[in-house]
Amino acid sequence: MTLRLGDIAPDFTAVTTEGEINFHEYLGENWGILFSHPADYTPVCTTELGTVAKLKSEFDKRNVKVLALSVDGLADHEGWIKDINETQATQVNFPLIADKDRKISQLYDMIHPNASENFTVRSVFVIGDDRKIKLIITYPASTGRNFDELLRVIDSLQLTADYSVATPANWKQGEDVVIAPSIKNEDISSKFPKGHKVIKPYLRSTPQPNI
Ligand code: BEZ
Repeated sequence: MTLRLGDIAPDFTAVTTEGEINFHEYLGENWGILFSHPADYTPVCTTELGTVAKLKSEFDKRNVKVLALSVDGLADHEGWIKDINETQATQVNFPLIADKDRKISQLYDMIHPNASENFTVRSVFVIGDDRKIKLIITYPASTGRNFDELLRVIDSLQLTADYSVATPANWKQGEDVVIAPSIKNEDISSKFPKGHKVIKPYLRSTPQPNI
């Protein structure tokens, strides 16, 4: 199935390192991040899971539930998590799906046969509190993800869900944002009382409205 932005994230029930999880129940009213790993006991994945564990408080702050997936079984996951905790000096603090039959990988199109016949690529799905897919990024197995970038995108997604703004290139939390083209000039002052700049008629900026 081809998944696109705006689609409802398909629901599933999975065996995980924290017991059976129904995805939509797990998300509840929160945002979510679902991300896949090519295989257990692999070096890049080991660093990725350790990094996400260390960022747990950042995901919590943003009301984002984390769920990882790898196509190995539960016994492998449990042994591997011990290694991750040891080598990355952390405790894995989120569930890891054991997708041995590749049902969820296929549901989310995480296996790209021309990259690898059997293993998932590094897919990332960010899901909104409306259960719709807000972001899809796919990395190759050889490149570990930048999870600071994912936090940055989540900040942008959560901001732009609530305000008629967009975030410019390389934007970071606290920087000026762009006023949505749908906002008429005469409505800007009431909607953005912190002030604004008109750089071009189509390029108008304002301080970040939610801080
Ligand atoms: C890794 O996670 O280190 C990895 C997995 C598959 C291929 C290459 C690297």
